[in-house]
Amino acid sequence: MSLKISRRSDVPAFRALDTLRLVNERIADGMDIKRLEAGQPCFGAPEKAIEHARACLRSDPRQGYTEAIGMTRLRKRIARYYGEQYGVEVDYSRIAVTFGSSGGFLLSFLSALDVGDKVAMACPGYAAYRNFLKALGITPVEFNVDETTNFQPTVAHLEALKEKVDGLIVCSPANPSGTMLTPQQLKDIARWCGDNGVRLFSDEVYHGVTYDRKAETVLKFSQNAVVLNSFSKYFAMTGWRLGWLVLPEDLTDPVKRLAENLFVSPPTLAQSVAHEVFDYRGVLDGYVDVYRANREVLLRELPKAGFTRFSNPEGAFYIYVDVNDITGDSVEFCRRMLDEAHVSATPGLDFDTGRGHATVRISYAGSTADIEEACRRLYQWRMGGIDTKQASAAE
Ligand SMILES: Cc1ncc(COP(=O)(O)O)c(C=O)c1O
Repeated sequence: MSLKISRRSDVPAFRALDTLRLVNERIADGMDIKRLEAGQPCFGAPEKAIEHARACLRSDPRQGYTEAIGMTRLRKRIARYYGEQYGVEVDYSRIAVTFGSSGGFLLSFLSALDVGDKVAMACPGYAAYRNFLKALGITPVEFNVDETTNFQPTVAHLEALKEKVDGLIVCSPANPSGTMLTPQQLKDIARWCGDNGVRLFSDEVYHGVTYDRKAETVLKFSQNAVVLNSFSKYFAMTGWRLGWLVLPEDLTDPVKRLAENLFVSPPTLAQSVAHEVFDYRGVLDGYVDVYRANREVLLRELPKAGFTRFSNPEGAFYIYVDVNDITGDSVEFCRRMLDEAHVSATPGLDFDTGRGHATVRISYAGSTADIEEACRRLYQWRMGGIDTKQASAAE
């Protein structure tokens, strides 16, 4: 007799992670892959911060639990960062340290929303939002955006929604497009949410990874919005699994109680390192300079390889490429690119279940030499057959 499996667990696989698995298998088989699929920095945390981790382990091998919403000194350090980075005063009582921003999504959705609620989000967008909400019994209300609004939502999109929503998720710089909202656009959206009783969730995980202008925090424009941020991207601590929330006053206590029961504590060693990592902004900004150089290479080389329509990559480390004139099946296209050109990318279906068969996300968080080599292979592949032996020999 087969036992029950919950309906809530019936969420689609995260395809980007499927791609990651395929790539890892090929690499384990000895294939030399240039990786344009991974949504994580090729760098680790700054060396000095790692040294601090070693010292922490030596001085306190026990590494016990911390407060459920994080060490007070880290919460205070994050609060200080808001003054330094944005000129916004935030009391540390509003900061909750979480298990990646993913943990922050769980805690903030659970604290602000109920089963049956509806949350709007732009499509294409980060796949996990949709699936997270579904697993919690909340209905995602997706609306399409495209290059006409820089792949970002506008108040006009929100006005055009056919149903009343309880929440809205925005993400700037965005995954998969890398595009950003202007401060005025964010302000207008925050005002619309305020006027319509909609809780705004601002995913700010790619803040710091911007090229021409700084990203603005929603905290400048709203007292009721939830900010989600992470040590995974700008801070290059992806696998340490740490993020944070900046919460409106009414959610601080619910989030604390949920965090106590659901997680007990965020990872202790990661919190000690995160506290230090703010001292190495120079190193972290150097990483962003590498992504900036990579972006220039792609903007120059992609059109030569026949990829001519793509998003305007203002931040994060992604470009969203329209491959409609090349393929109607982005999954098969990415698989062929992997096996024939030995270059990996993520099919757009993760980000847009309706139109993603004709799009591909390229990530440029690797080294510039790898991005250059990936471009060379893509050019040869698209221009009629790549000599992968030569590509490997070039290593
Ligand atoms: C837009 C966006 N939000 C949130 C996350 C989750 O990141 P983490 O849980 O590592 O903070 C990601 C990861 O790629 C992302 O792209």
